[in-house]
Amino acid sequence: MSVTILTETRSTGTEVAFQQCINPVCGTTVSIDRAIFECPKCGDLLDVVYDWDRAEVPDNLRWFERKWSNRNDPADFSGVWRFRELLPFVSKDRVVTIGEGQTLLQRSDAVASYVGVSPGCLQLQYEGMNPSGSFKDNGMAAAFTHARMVGAKRVACASTGNTSASLAVFCSSTTYGFKAIIFIGSGKIAYGKLSQALDHGALTIQIVGDFDDALERVRQVADRLGIYLMNSVNPFRLEGQKTIMYRILEANGWEVPDWIVVPGGNLGNSSSFGKAFIEMKHLGLIDRVPRLAIINAAGAHTLDQLVSHHGLTWRNGLPNPDVIRDYYHHLDVEHLKADTIASAIEINRPVNLKKCLRALDFCDGVVREVHDQEILDAKARVGAGGLGCEPASAASVAGAKLLREQGVIAAGDRVVCILTGHQLKDPTVTVAYHSADQEQFEKVLGSRGVRRAGFANRPVVVPNELESIIRTIGLYATPESAES
Ligand code: F0G
Repeated sequence: MSVTILTETRSTGTEVAFQQCINPVCGTTVSIDRAIFECPKCGDLLDVVYDWDRAEVPDNLRWFERKWSNRNDPADFSGVWRFRELLPFVSKDRVVTIGEGQTLLQRSDAVASYVGVSPGCLQLQYEGMNPSGSFKDNGMAAAFTHARMVGAKRVACASTGNTSASLAVFCSSTTYGFKAIIFIGSGKIAYGKLSQALDHGALTIQIVGDFDDALERVRQVADRLGIYLMNSVNPFRLEGQKTIMYRILEANGWEVPDWIVVPGGNLGNSSSFGKAFIEMKHLGLIDRVPRLAIINAAGAHTLDQLVSHHGLTWRNGLPNPDVIRDYYHHLDVEHLKADTIASAIEINRPVNLKKCLRALDFCDGVVREVHDQEILDAKARVGAGGLGCEPASAASVAGAKLLREQGVIAAGDRVVCILTGHQLKDPTVTVAYHSADQEQFEKVLGSRGVRRAGFANRPVVVPNELESIIRTIGLYATPESAES
């Protein structure tokens, strides 16, 4: 492998990138200029692959620091494109950006204490700071860039809400004439997310069914009408999401943590994180790899079932197809549908399953599932001791706590939990958890098997009268308790 150190003025081109079927027996290659999103020969997933010998890659990660002083250049400002040398499928002048990836890695000792690791050992990677309020903008920056490269105009996705919000905001705030079409399951999307799609002018198609149904449908529609598909089956999405890992390393002075803990839905994130580490290791940019923990909601636990209970593994690119087929057959026969309050990850048929197995294999990963009760308690602790997040994101913290209790994570391990989406995405759940209104609690949460709100911060009802208000503040907010 030869690596070239870039000079400031040079940019990488597309000639080093191509697409390739992930099945090693097939290995069919596809030009970077095509938007087909499945292997034309065997139908398996495609990867974006680089001929690193011909790419111009820095020889250490500190090289990227030179871009910090160049924030008036949109490509260097972007938290995705400032790492463009590690996703070199496009030249710098062709990238699409809306200023994504200005995220924060927050140390939270309060959450560390909840999880059971030592002070200083837990960090929250807050992806809610993206323009549309979730990590999706990272992937969309790359996928919209590819859509622009291939001249697409109509773009579509199925979504549990965040993909559609991100797609809608990329269409509304860029000038390339993109038209957004989104598919959602009826009653399956949190209000914050739905309101974004509507406000940004996306054609919003609501179908009877859930995310799995909507995804199947949008793939058919995209195929029939030649519409560009923006779901994470699109490998360019995953290229953008790799940068979440680069930013975590960047924020830690390029040190690799011990654990990355991430919620698992359609498994795009976990797949892209694995790819990021595979490539960085291959390029000699890191000398060790973190362990990966992927956390399912118990009501949408396909990955945990397959990996932890049915022995499914990567097997050098040939995971046992019978195990997967039998499990999906069981879902069909039993009419099992995904069901969790963490609506973002209410998914039973994750499209990136195989790529995720590769990530688990490379990162010595583990999979766990957590119940809605644990997710909501963790979410309340994140809100009380961090920047806050939506329910699905808190699965990472609940999962880290479980792994700590099981002794898989040690007290001194350095753990990064990915907070995938903003707290305001799903206010209905947050308010129901903290509310003193039992009826609302039952309606929103009780129906999901949530029994208690152990960390609720209930609003205090006080007469509109000065002395009562002062007495209440004295009771609940003494200076001592404020500092503790
Ligand atoms: N967290 C949030 C907030 C999400 O919106 C999603 C996925 C995930 C986690 C799961 O990530 O699919 O990479 O494993 N949301 C998709 C959507 C499915 O349509 O917005 P994954």
